[in-house]
Amino acid sequence: MDAQLRVIALVGSLRRESYTQRVVLALKDLAPETMAIEVASIGSLSLYNEDDDTDAPPPPWQAFRNQVRRADGVLFATPEYNRSIPGALKNAIDVGSRPAGASVWSQKPAAVLSASPGALGGFGANHHIRQCLTFLDMPVLQQPEAYLSRVAGLIDADGRITSSATADFLRGFVSAFEQWIRRLRHDTAIAKAPNPQASILAPNRFAHL
Ligand code: FNR
Repeated sequence: MDAQLRVIALVGSLRRESYTQRVVLALKDLAPETMAIEVASIGSLSLYNEDDDTDAPPPPWQAFRNQVRRADGVLFATPEYNRSIPGALKNAIDVGSRPAGASVWSQKPAAVLSASPGALGGFGANHHIRQCLTFLDMPVLQQPEAYLSRVAGLIDADGRITSSATADFLRGFVSAFEQWIRRLRHDTAIAKAPNPQASILAPNRFAHL
């Protein structure tokens, strides 16, 4: 069996009864057995301030950065605040991105899911996250896109997805994310493997000149 993948989920809502948080907890059950999803506590991260990013940064920043480093993939799950990324989530992204040159995000496979009780499914937040992830050099799952609109009617207070179509969609989404992570790991392994032909080909690289 494939080794279990560790996915860290960053949830953009700190609200106790958050729909987004409930969706992520439901995803833990819908995910294949070969993927474990762990939710990060981004609410404990103080606001990013470069003055505090010394040789001894705040312990919650260090713990969070290490948690991301250990993960095989990152799931960004968020509501939309004022058509953009909630501050708590943007702060976590910023904390992980520094100090300069030591970002924990670089080359980590990512997926983005947004949710809203409204009709647009958090489209603005979803794409503002994608804008950050481009700069942070994270390979992001492109399809399926995940915008959960009218989320209040899709999940009950016990965290059960009430629509089978939505459960199927979410199952497909996590499965696609698993395949995405495995594909990138496979490609990276191939890229790193010694190429037995390299030494033969190398002297001829400029033969056409
Ligand atoms: C919102 N909400 C919201 N919804 C939306 O679809 N687009 C938006 O731009 C906003 N803007 C916004 C700003 C702020 C400051 C708050 C607090 C809320 C409503 C939001 O989708 C709703 O409160 C969700 O229930 C929040 O997600 P959780 O906490 O249920 O996961």
